[in-house]
Amino acid sequence: MDRRAFLKASTLAALSALPVARASVAPDIEITLSPGESGALISPHLYGHFIEHLGGVIYDGVWVGRNSSIPNVDGIRKQFVDDMKRISAPNLRWPGGCFADGYHWRDGIGKASDRPRTYNFWQQRMPAGIDATETNHFGIHEFMRLCRLIGAEPYIAANVGSGSPREFHEWVSYCNAPAGTLSLAAERAANGDVQPFGVRYWGVGNESWGCGGTMRPEEYAAKYRQFVTQFPAYTEPFLVATGPRGHSADGDIGWTTGFFQAMRGATLPNGFSLHFYTDLRPTKVKAGDFTALEWYEVLLRGLRLEKVIEDHWSEMGKFDATHRTRLVLDEWGVWYPPGSEITPAYILSQTITLRDAVHTGLTFDILNRHAEKIAMANVAQSINCIHSLFRAQGDKFVRTPVYHVFDMYRQHMGAHQVPLSNPAPELNVPVLAGQARLPGLSASASIRGRRLAVTLVNPSLDAALSLRIRLAGGTRATEARGSLLTHQDMRATNTFADPDEVKPIAHPVRVVADALELRMPKQALVLIECELG
Ligand code: AHR
Repeated sequence: MDRRAFLKASTLAALSALPVARASVAPDIEITLSPGESGALISPHLYGHFIEHLGGVIYDGVWVGRNSSIPNVDGIRKQFVDDMKRISAPNLRWPGGCFADGYHWRDGIGKASDRPRTYNFWQQRMPAGIDATETNHFGIHEFMRLCRLIGAEPYIAANVGSGSPREFHEWVSYCNAPAGTLSLAAERAANGDVQPFGVRYWGVGNESWGCGGTMRPEEYAAKYRQFVTQFPAYTEPFLVATGPRGHSADGDIGWTTGFFQAMRGATLPNGFSLHFYTDLRPTKVKAGDFTALEWYEVLLRGLRLEKVIEDHWSEMGKFDATHRTRLVLDEWGVWYPPGSEITPAYILSQTITLRDAVHTGLTFDILNRHAEKIAMANVAQSINCIHSLFRAQGDKFVRTPVYHVFDMYRQHMGAHQVPLSNPAPELNVPVLAGQARLPGLSASASIRGRRLAVTLVNPSLDAALSLRIRLAGGTRATEARGSLLTHQDMRATNTFADPDEVKPIAHPVRVVADALELRMPKQALVLIECELG
């Protein structure tokens, strides 16, 4: 038996042997949920997406072309559409990223063969000898077709770095002006879309402190005001201003202070973008091959997101007491040093393992717990990139372990937070700096009608846990179902050859009086779906 087959067999054996927790056995941890005291709405948009003209994300990942032998819908990879639909992908951010501030939307309309070939921000980072110029075959009409096929709301990042307010406003009008009004609406119709796109979410630039223009916050605030003052509001907009580089050592609080100071007296944006990468690029921690210490290092760095959200929210509150502006975490994910690309030209594509799935669960638990502060979040990026749900090359396609976490956690989308107390003791774990404390269990819960969803993450590489989840206020469950995502091998991944190595399986959860009881394996995520009486 080869190593992979052995690991698979031993995983299945271990899982089927898991004992169902008995009421009489004292649990390691008792969590208390208060379903009667539900809190903020968990916007479906927290489970959002992002695709950029970068490496193999758009071309080959999303767009295979109308004449491709790969199953497609008008040139869009069918499997991508089907799977994004399946997880109810709520939104899609495009065209960048850094690409956005060099993108001129007119290059991407009209007959494909007539579209110009243009410079792509990322071509300078491509391996030598590979033509990475932009064909513009995937433009606004193709993007809108993709959004409609998935059922996702478009979120467009407009060009502030090398564009003008006029170019921005014309793009908005081209998208949103009703049929039969502006010449731009007639042009849109001539290009195949009579009806307006109704794009609501507009990002006013991207990383304007970096690739989007290397601006200071007060410079960007001036640009922001200039770009939005004459915004053609055919569709009530949700405008997102460029926010901080949250993964900076100091959390980049200075950007937030500087922007809001400079915006005094002006209309504040609806959203303030926050980028937070669990950034391993300055280290030697690899994507696919790593040690236990490196497992914990990634999770520890990822958990910093919670403090970054709290710090920026509190800083924003000093200028905006009613919190008109909410955070938009429009780029997040674990970013490893290069080395595990699908193919060298698919820069930034990286191996996704069980570790990244666990990181995703920890991130979603944070977002759920802070749902009132966050209007949207977008994973970077959905396919063939940093923290992807999918890897594709030609006719090969695979769902990564991260995809399965999106699938499990979607039970929270559009539900209401349920307060919980989680007394799990912290773990003392090895990390690059020596030792660190890590929460022994992560949890979040939500309710929709009488349906309760609880998600749990056990980050420990050593200890399984016996859990009791007590429902406060006399609430009783009538039925509970569990699903479990784990693997014996912390480095387990899904490959083109072995696409189902990591995938959820049913997991026993017992309803005992006013509680749910289960055993939680190590290095695992669990979803519990439960009907309340
Ligand atoms: O997601 C990759 C890049 O990361 C984006 O283009 C940029 O916004 C960020 O720095």
